[in-house]
Amino acid sequence: MIESVEQGNKTMNDLIIKAAKDLAGAKSVAALTGAGISVESGIPPFRGKGGIWETIDPMEYAHINAFMENPEKVWNVLLRGLKEIIEQAKPNDAHKGLAKLEKLGILKTIITQNIDGLHQRAGNTDVIEFHGNFAWHRCLDCNKRCETLKIDLKEIPPRCECGGILRPEFVFFGEAIPSYSLMRSQEVASECDIMLVVGTSAIVQPAAFMPMIAKESGAKIIEVNPEKTPLTGRISDYLLMGKAGQIINKLTTEVEKLLEVPS
Ligand code: APR
Repeated sequence: MIESVEQGNKTMNDLIIKAAKDLAGAKSVAALTGAGISVESGIPPFRGKGGIWETIDPMEYAHINAFMENPEKVWNVLLRGLKEIIEQAKPNDAHKGLAKLEKLGILKTIITQNIDGLHQRAGNTDVIEFHGNFAWHRCLDCNKRCETLKIDLKEIPPRCECGGILRPEFVFFGEAIPSYSLMRSQEVASECDIMLVVGTSAIVQPAAFMPMIAKESGAKIIEVNPEKTPLTGRISDYLLMGKAGQIINKLTTEVEKLLEVPS
């Protein structure tokens, strides 16, 4: 894996100051976020240390065919736990930092692969939920929607008043990305001049294609991740190696200094 030229032997602090300068001078910044940005909110990632898919097989529990075949099993093994974890989660410093970057007029749009709604709760107003969200469920029979918070799990799988089974409004494996989200994300990726890629292993398509679209359109790609990904040294201009909460906190503080925003 070749190190990107800009990475070189710069210290992390040098890189954060460099990223702050890049962001402060940008015209239209977009972010692509993944499960890693919510790890510090208590939501485990899917892959790597403590990843959900390290203990359960996504094809057996997170594929639409698995849900349709045995919704009770999927609810018991995956969805019940997901509901509890997401309902206890709060935005962390990384979510708050991205919301601050929107307030400063720097960050326009977040393309998130996450279904936890934490970007909106932190205050970002233009969030494309690439894989849908867990905030809503809908009935397989009458298509009526209901808020996940209002679902009690007395009965598994939970049912609509009409008796139909409720399914989450997120995108299972085996389902298409909502066309609106896909088109809008491609548009945002091709128009931004910087894409912040935060907390994603960058292996699930088509979300992982967005940084490549941005790169091909001339954007600078800045990664935030404790580990290298397939983008590092190939698509990313440089990697701010560390946890999103700490890095984005520092990054936002440096941007505010450059914009002379009183902290
Ligand atoms: N800060 C930043 N990044 C982190 C942190 C942290 N504190 N902790 C872990 N990470 C990084 C990991 O190094 C990894 O690169 O977050 C990434 C998490 O990767 P995944 O678990 O694969 O999450 P993601 O990339 O969002 O997965 C994409 O796969 O299973 C599907 O639909 C699911 O949306 C998900 C998609």
